[in-house]
Amino acid sequence: FSDWHIIIASNRGPVVHIENSDGEVIQQKGSGGLITGLSGMLQYINATWISCAQTPQDVDFLEGDIPLEEANGSIHVKFINPEQAAYDGYYNVIANPLLWFLQHSMWNISSEPVIDHATWDAWENGYKKVNHLFAQEIVKAVENTGKKTLVMLQDYHLYLTARYIRDLLPKAKQPTILHFTHIPWPGPEYWRILPPTMRQGILDGLCAVDLLGFQTEEDGLNFIRTVESHLPRAHVKYKRGRIWYRNHATHIQDFPISIDVANLEAMRQDEEVIEQKKKLQKIITDKKLVLRVDRIDPSKNIIRGFKAFEELLSLHPEYQEKVLFLALLVPSRREVEEYKDYLDKIMAISGQINAGYGTSEWEPVRILVGENYKRAIAALQLYDVLLVNAVADGMNLVAKEGPIVNERNGVLVLSERAGASQQLAPGAIVISPCDIYATAEAIHQGLSMGMEERNSRARSLHWLIKNNDIYCWLKDQLHAIVEMSRKS
Ligand code: G6P
Repeated sequence: FSDWHIIIASNRGPVVHIENSDGEVIQQKGSGGLITGLSGMLQYINATWISCAQTPQDVDFLEGDIPLEEANGSIHVKFINPEQAAYDGYYNVIANPLLWFLQHSMWNISSEPVIDHATWDAWENGYKKVNHLFAQEIVKAVENTGKKTLVMLQDYHLYLTARYIRDLLPKAKQPTILHFTHIPWPGPEYWRILPPTMRQGILDGLCAVDLLGFQTEEDGLNFIRTVESHLPRAHVKYKRGRIWYRNHATHIQDFPISIDVANLEAMRQDEEVIEQKKKLQKIITDKKLVLRVDRIDPSKNIIRGFKAFEELLSLHPEYQEKVLFLALLVPSRREVEEYKDYLDKIMAISGQINAGYGTSEWEPVRILVGENYKRAIAALQLYDVLLVNAVADGMNLVAKEGPIVNERNGVLVLSERAGASQQLAPGAIVISPCDIYATAEAIHQGLSMGMEERNSRARSLHWLIKNNDIYCWLKDQLHAIVEMSRKS
């Protein structure tokens, strides 16, 4: 693909520009799982990466392409800047919460979602509009290059973009389009929650893509089933993973996303990481450490995680003064109603545990709130048990980062509803995320496990992750594109 022009498009870009304390504008790594995954593959490609401006300083860079400092000129960033109201409808009404909650099967259908006039307005003048802006920017980039073009669309923010690109360009100029959905794709019964116009719009948009990637085989199958149920005139071929629609073939395949293992291993030597590790060691002292690292998102199941820890303390008094539950929590989507009081609820339950079980010498739960990737990497080196108990999760990259940097042969307790469990089950203790009792017992099993079993599980996780890193994710998608064009 060295002679191709690659265009990546995602809501957030690889960097944001911010003003530091000396008044200089600097580039800082963007946040979230998608950026963690995709940033690792940038060393292998030349690309233009289009995303929405996130900071006032980003807006100063709207004209022209900005070289990504870390990528030695091989990646150029291009920002689009939708009007505030359009962005708000697209991000805060449709993408989150509507699509996010639907795809993580999190609605209590007796009362939610409520799709009212404001939601329809957000769909028409927010979600559609921003998807169209992305398409226009991509089309400009396609037209400016004489090369063959591969467009890599990312995630649930951009379900409509491919169809707009197809409509805006003549047949001879059509690029190859790939779309990767980073979050779960539930079955057709869930999609019935969306009105037909919305769900058909989404499916029509995705069926304009050449290669559709999902995190797991189940997500891909669910997509095909959804199309079969909800997109009239689509012709579905399960065995070949293919959909024919409007005279176009879309291939469906799973590509579990991963991390940049070599870069993460090198981060252990980073000065800031070493500094953060020392600070954390002072908090942990000689206690066993149960750790979680998450965005503050109801899908991460943080409250049940604390309830499980409370149950552990009540069922196993031997841990009294011997264990610390450290939660590193990153603020997220604070404009969205469902996220607003989630941290308050987390604080309330952790306060309850500390009041119920703590002593003058010991605080069983400690919460550190804030975005600090290097602190997270430092903490991941130190856990005895890493808890990833999401109620639903596309992949969950913390579950892959932990076993790579951990120094204590720590045990991974992993939700069966996180995509990562499809690959990591052999080395992890897999739990059902609503089962607080089983989660408590899994933490206990992890804390009390003998050295030999810990070592063997840690080795197995390390091997599984190292052999399926972010390079494989990229390579497998490019390989699939080559195979497709060979067959067609
Ligand atoms: C998930 C999604 C990403 C998203 C990230 C952070 O990983 O798949 O697309 O960027 O969460 O969420 P945010 O809304 O802060 O971008």
